[in-house]
Amino acid sequence: MWKPTERIKHHPNPGRWPSAEEADESLLFQPIKIGKTILEERSWVPAMVPWRSNEEGLVTDEVIEWYRRFAEGRPGAIVVEATGIRDIPSGPLLRIGHDRYIDGLKKIVDAVRDASGGKTKLFIQIIDFLAMNRRPDPIKYFKRHLKVTENHRVALKAESWSEDEIRDHLLLLADEELSGVLSIRELESLNLGHRDRVTDTELQRINELPEILPQLFSDAAKRAKDAGFDGVELHYAHAYTMASFLSVRNTRADGYGGNKENRARLPLEVYKAVRERVGDNFILGCRFLSEDCIENGNTLEDTCYFGEQFASAGMDFISLSRGGKFEDALQPKVGAAVYPYTGPSGYECMPQFMSDKKGPYGRNVEPANEIRKSIRNAGYDIPVIVAGGIHGYEQAEEILTSGKADIIAMARQSLADPDWFRKVRKGRGKEVRVCKYTNYCEGLDQKHKVVTCQLWDRSDLDIDNVPKTLDGKRRLTAPKWK
Ligand SMILES: Cc1cc2nc3c(=O)[nH]c(=O)nc-3n(C[C@H](O)[C@H](O)[C@H](O)COP(=O)(O)O)c2cc1C
Ligand code: SF4
Repeated sequence: MWKPTERIKHHPNPGRWPSAEEADESLLFQPIKIGKTILEERSWVPAMVPWRSNEEGLVTDEVIEWYRRFAEGRPGAIVVEATGIRDIPSGPLLRIGHDRYIDGLKKIVDAVRDASGGKTKLFIQIIDFLAMNRRPDPIKYFKRHLKVTENHRVALKAESWSEDEIRDHLLLLADEELSGVLSIRELESLNLGHRDRVTDTELQRINELPEILPQLFSDAAKRAKDAGFDGVELHYAHAYTMASFLSVRNTRADGYGGNKENRARLPLEVYKAVRERVGDNFILGCRFLSEDCIENGNTLEDTCYFGEQFASAGMDFISLSRGGKFEDALQPKVGAAVYPYTGPSGYECMPQFMSDKKGPYGRNVEPANEIRKSIRNAGYDIPVIVAGGIHGYEQAEEILTSGKADIIAMARQSLADPDWFRKVRKGRGKEVRVCKYTNYCEGLDQKHKVVTCQLWDRSDLDIDNVPKTLDGKRRLTAPKWK
């Protein structure tokens, strides 16, 4: 992962922990209205893909245990990981693209209700993403994948050469020479692997996205409702299809790109279609980026507008992440896929202990504050959820009391200690296993390996047949809190 050049070591500082009485009176542990329901407290475990599904995208026992363990900590809400809305092979990513997934998803709902005593609300994040290929071996790229065009012939002054001669010649060229012959997209396909973009409207599958996505998202949301979830989070964040529609880099000329009104059009149409399908009582919101954190990406000016638009359309909540884009990702090895959390914007999404002066804790709070202010100024009172390096009670309480956000999301801190919420509520905050923000978990995620936390995955491996990774070296869930 990319790291800021300053490389200052930051140590997590959870600050003072409250007594049970103080926790009881805190804003963090007060209920809050979300849509037509109530969260019992203002805490939230945001979506985290743990790579525990299988090639069919089904809910496995390991997926169920992952969510049961978070529910034992009894946060206000848990959001189930990014789950694919299409019924297409997607590796071990959870899927909701067909009715056959409903029964498995019901088991997550049951486990969370059971483990939290019905206290924790359960949402699922639903995602669409575009096709991409791994970085090719240059020999294969030039011999097979590259479509030889007139532009190549002209650039090489090789009008009369056969296609094979051109391919062989390109293979011998140095990088600087290639940049004078290949287009920017061809160079990208060679160096990073081909990746579809929402602006590739010459491709039918991309051109038709505005026609097909409202139906795909609403079918998926209906399945979530049938499985018993309390609501759905539309994934409009990071490097995926809907965030790409929102992006200022989206120059589509069909009314779905260009100015910010047009870029918000499909996300709003998707929301409307889903709402019509699931009704007003089902909680429906989205996660989007407070800032893209890339050159020529969305800034607060765009995202404050999106926040207002989503609120005025009737969304029940707004959850804010930041960064995590393909555009500045590091070059993958040959045979690997580019990963959107490896560049500076990826760092903004999951900031690490080795940081700049600003540090990794709460980098998304001020941008969230700005978006929340815009939503409030426009007359809407929906909760705004913020994530990013939040691990202490005082830190969380300050964000809430100063009105910078309404609900506190903790991803890595919940992974490090799923009992954070229960411990703090009981006045036993000192027992919290505080996240070190090393991103060991993120390294596993990047390799699509089963995600665990380094603070507990080698502990008590021999006790009670604890479920482990296939190599037997890591336990799959955090030890019980006694
Ligand atoms: C292992 C892992 C998987 C993640 N998967 C998702 C995901 O599926 N969807 C999403 O919106 N964010 C995902 N994130 C980002 C987190 O939800 C969160 O925004 C980010 O980690 C910053 O919050 P934190 O500092 O509390 O960890 C993931 C993060 C981690 C560490
Ligand atoms: S591995 Fe554990 S301690 Fe390290 S960042 Fe992830 S959750 Fe935090």
